This record gives sequence, C-alpha cells and structure tokens, in this order.
Amino acid sequence: MNKKIGKVFVWPLCTRIIHWIIATSFILSFITSFCDDKFKLHIALGFIFGIVLTFRIIWGFVGPSYATFDTFKLKFKELKYYFVEKMEDRWRKIHAGHNAASSWFTIIVLFLGYIIVMSGMLLYGIQEASGVFAWLNEYYYRHSYMLLALHKYISYILFFWAIIHVLGVLVEQFYHKTDMVLAMITGYKNCEGKDTKMSQTRNIFAYSAIFLSVGVLYFVLSHEESFLTKNKFGTIDFQKENVLFYDKCSKCHKIYPPFMLPNDSWMKIFDGLENHFGEKITENNISNIDQDSIKTYILANSAENSTRKISFKTLDSLGDMRPLSITKSPYWREAHKNIDNTVFKSSIVKDKSNCFVCHQHFEDGIFDNTLVRIPRDVK
Ligand code: HEC
Ligand code: HEC
Repeated sequence: MNKKIGKVFVWPLCTRIIHWIIATSFILSFITSFCDDKFKLHIALGFIFGIVLTFRIIWGFVGPSYATFDTFKLKFKELKYYFVEKMEDRWRKIHAGHNAASSWFTIIVLFLGYIIVMSGMLLYGIQEASGVFAWLNEYYYRHSYMLLALHKYISYILFFWAIIHVLGVLVEQFYHKTDMVLAMITGYKNCEGKDTKMSQTRNIFAYSAIFLSVGVLYFVLSHEESFLTKNKFGTIDFQKENVLFYDKCSKCHKIYPPFMLPNDSWMKIFDGLENHFGEKITENNISNIDQDSIKTYILANSAENSTRKISFKTLDSLGDMRPLSITKSPYWREAHKNIDNTVFKSSIVKDKSNCFVCHQHFEDGIFDNTLVRIPRDVK
C-alpha cells in the first residue's frame, strides 16, 4: 500500500473492540469493587481484563503495523518533543499509529494492568481461598494484606492514569481538533500513512480473544460455582461432623461455624450458657458431657485453626479482645459500616447476628463473598 494523506485506516474493527473491552472491563471492575453484592461480577470482569491485556501484549509482537511495540515512540526525546510542540500548539501533523504520549500510555497500562490482574487472582486464591490459586491459601494467607494493598493502590493509580488519557484525548479532539475520539470509533485518522491491512490469521486471533472474553463473562455469571470461582472450603455437613453440636446448637439459630470466633471467645460462650444472649441454657437443655463434647469439637475448629479470611481477619482485628459475638470485632464493624441500622432491625434480618439472611450458606460453613445478598425490600 502506498502512503497517503487524508483519511487513513489505522484501527481495524477488532482492535477497536478490544480497546473498548480493555477500557470498560477495567472501569467496571473498578466500580464493582465498591459494590458489596457485585463481587462475582467484579471477578468476571477481572478475568476479561486479564484476557484482553494478554491479547494486547501478544498483539504488540504479532499484530499489524500500527499496533506493534516496535512502532511505539518510546524515546524520551520524542516524548518531550511531542509535549513541547503540543503546548506551543505548533504541531498539526498527526501520527498514524501511536504518538509518543499514547505509546508510553499503552506500555504503562499493560504493566499496571497486569499487576492488578495477577495480584487480584492471587488475592482471590490466597485471601478468599477461591479460584485457580485457592491452593495457595494455607501457605500464604498472612500475605493477603500486602496483596490487597498492591491490588487496590495500583488500581487507583491506573484509574487516574486512565483519566489523564481521557483528558489528553479530549484536548486532542477539541483543542487541537485532530478528531482523535472518532479514530477509536471509525478506525480512520486524518493523517499521513498507509492503511492497515488485516490478514485472515490475525482476524481469527483477535476475534478469538473477543469471544473468549464474552464467553468467560457468561460462564462465570451463569454458574453458581466453576473452576474459576470454586471455594477451597466446601460445604460442611455439621450434622455428620458432630451431631450433638448440630442438634443442640441449632435449636434457636442456625449453626454458627466454629471458625468465626477465637478459642477464648468460645470458652466464654460455654462458661456463660446460663445467660446466653438472654437465653438460659442449663444442664437440662444440654448435659455437661454433651457441652464438653461440643466444646472440644468447636475449639479444634476455631479461628486459630483456620486459614479462612473471616478467621484470620477477625483474629487480627480483635487484638487482645475476646468478645462473645463477632459483631463486636473491628473487622466486622468495618465490613458492615455501610449497611444502615434499619436494615439490621428490619423484619427480615431482625438482628446483626442473623448472618444467615445475607451470607447464604453460612450455616453450612461457607463464607463466600459471591454469596452476599442484602434483602432488597428493606434497603
Ligand atoms: C435457647 C436458644 C439458644 C440455643 C440453644 C443456643 N443459642 Fe446461641 N444464641 C441464641 C441467641 C438468642 C443469640 C443472639 C443472636 C441471635 O438472636 O441469633 C445467640 C447467639 C450465639 C452466638 C453469637 C453469634 C455472633 O457472633 O453474634 C454464638 C456464637 C452462639 N449463639 C453459639 C451457640 C452455641 C455454640 C450453641 C450450642 C451450645 C448455642 N448457641 C445454642 C440462642 C441460643
Ligand atoms: C444485612 C445483611 C448482613 C448481615 C445480617 C450480616 N452481614 Fe456480613 N456482610 C454483609 C455485606 C453486604 C457485606 C459486604 C460484602 C463485601 O464487602 O463484599 C458483609 C461483609 C462481611 C464480612 C467481610 C467480608 C470481606 O470481604 O472482608 C464478614 C467477615 C461478614 N460480613 C461476616 C458476617 C457475620 C459473621 C455476620 C453475622 C454475625 C454477618 N456478616 C451479618 C451483609 C450482612
């Protein structure tokens, strides 16, 4: 193809679609990280972000001319020249491919994006004991704080980085009048260069990545559990594990799993059964022998003996405190601070301690953020 001046076809349709998938999957996963009951969507969007970033990196080596890294303008001199010329509004010549600013922008997005995706997948495995890295939970759960900080702060940085990109593009569009916004919609730029030609193989590769992204979104959301979201700690059949515990302790409320409280809290609960949250439980209800047997079972499975997030985070936040209820722990309070008190007092929830209404399958020993539901009619 010969060089031409005027409308040059720079971004083929698949490239534009991928660009918008990168942008929307990141922005939506950023937003859903603040929505309590959108955790599963957050995970699914994270997978998509990972897929399209991986595609974009490979594309940087095998893609058509304007997309490959060897056409990027990464010399410091070029970046300086770009900004000086832009600032003085002297430069009207538009690059067909990536200009110096967008070259650097892309490299940094790929770098930060990959850190976010990897730290997210590891965090999901190590902290939540879910997904493909769930097996790492028991070895590294102590490091989940560091991973969380990395995941969170790098995401903030990328978010601000994206805003800078949008502002830059708007300046190009409206101040320098280069129609840059339209380029990522129509694929055409007003510049000097050759039209992009897409080979069959490249088309197949790019559209496979697009279909894979959509497929993963559907797969994760349509399955209650899959290998991508499976929690390492399956359902616990308390009736089978300890029939006394199941029979005696689920009379008034569903079973509170032993792993949610530390040893000494459980000891206090057993020492105070005479006045158990306003209820009197005596030897007539549960014999001393049975109480001892239940206590032994619970202590063997308490927070100290578990690598679940709810266990180690509760323990860490408690310090020296050993309350009777998890709702007294700073971790619990922090996690529920956005839920209005009227929700807890509503006719469906009734009490803060009624975890089971919002945390589905908690009584089966499952604590999974993808299963959180705040009853809608009381919101
Ligand atoms: C006679 C009824 C009754 C029985 C039997 C009973 N509980 Fe409770 N329990 C309560 C009430 C009432 C509360 C306050 C929270 C609520 O309303 O669910 C409570 C709360 C708890 C809590 C606090 C949950 C939290 O962190 O907020 C734990 C733990 C608990 N019970 C454990 C047990 C264990 C273990 C047994 C068996 C030995 C048991 N309960 C048997 C009535 C009972
Ligand atoms: C009114 C509904 C509701 C009740 C009742 C409730 N929770 Fe929650 N809980 C939530 C919501 C919503 C979140 C936020 C989930 C998130 O951040 O993804 C949450 C978060 C948590 C977290 C933190 C999860 C995290 O990601 O760090 C823990 C632990 C937890 N709840 C345990 C409990 C326990 C134990 C009880 C019972 C003593 C309980 N909750 C009662 C709705 C509830």
